[in-house]
Amino acid sequence: MKMLLQEANIKPIIAGMLKRNTFIRKLMPLHTGGTNSSRYCYSVWLRHLVKVNNGNVNKLPSSVAELGPGDSLGIGIAALLSGVNEYVALDIQKYWNPEQNVKMLDELLVLFLRRETIPNEKEFPDVSPKLVDYNFPSSILSGEILQISLAPERIKAIRDELLHPDQPDNVFIKYFIPWSNPNIIRVNSVDLIISQAVLEHVDELENTYKAMYKWLKAGGVTSHAIDFKSHGFTKSWNGHWTLTDWEWKFVRGGRVYAINREPFSTHLRIMNQFDFSIDTKELKMLPSKIKINQISKSFSHFTDEDISVSGMYVIAIKK
Ligand SMILES: C[S@@+](CC[C@H](N)C(=O)[O-])C[C@H]1O[C@@H](n2cnc3c(N)ncnc32)[C@H](O)[C@@H]1O
Repeated sequence: MKMLLQEANIKPIIAGMLKRNTFIRKLMPLHTGGTNSSRYCYSVWLRHLVKVNNGNVNKLPSSVAELGPGDSLGIGIAALLSGVNEYVALDIQKYWNPEQNVKMLDELLVLFLRRETIPNEKEFPDVSPKLVDYNFPSSILSGEILQISLAPERIKAIRDELLHPDQPDNVFIKYFIPWSNPNIIRVNSVDLIISQAVLEHVDELENTYKAMYKWLKAGGVTSHAIDFKSHGFTKSWNGHWTLTDWEWKFVRGGRVYAINREPFSTHLRIMNQFDFSIDTKELKMLPSKIKINQISKSFSHFTDEDISVSGMYVIAIKK
């Protein structure tokens, strides 16, 4: 109780209480931020693409799935404009509409036609992964590839699917919202699964990693940027780890999702459990104002490192 009074912010508690009422929840605006900007989607997709290619030339995934696209399908549209053949979006709520996605397509198309430099830390200081070089990745997306991927008839077909996302014979874009059954995607069928600021929100973490493992082809890749900070629920960036389970339940209120409060080591443990091999692990550290003995009893497995890791970018490969 002492930590709740000391740490928790009032505004998210009130919002969580209001969201317990289904009628009020429906009245409240539904948006996530981030993918409502085409430059953000362009930057995020190209950053993941560059990282997973790791210097390899022309290694493009054919089939991409994304967890938690949020406000638009922009990250997936950027993938399709790069030459990806099939994109599957999985979320628990639908924030977008066809018109927003078509607007995103038009804006992203301009960025690709210009071979725009990848928006960097100056424009998106909090976005991970970071790159050494933000130039347009022409070694992966050559003129030849873009000539095919940006061909007018292909763009027209993608636009048509965005306008009619529920057509059963769509080939470029599929979505499952809400998703929970792993059988929605064929086993061993996906080359790349990405998520941006999503896995810290997923309640069913083990089942989600298990599903990703099933969906990927052997040698398939997952690329995740995960933010372990408190997302404004508490005053200090890691104060959410001091709250007991019932205090957290109270703070979470009636939200469909909040944050799962798992530290980076839990993600690595689950990935190992499902036989992923960790290819890249980039940790962001922040000084901790809380001490390890202030951590809630539910997190007795935490290490000193866990309470200082505020973010992780990880590439894991299905063995
Ligand atoms: C902070 S938003 C990030 C949105 C977007 N990826 C971006 O970069 O702006 C978190 C997203 O994760 C989604 N999410 C939460 N739990 C999920 C789950 N179990 N499966 C898929 N998506 C989930 C939310 O609905 C939301 O779209």
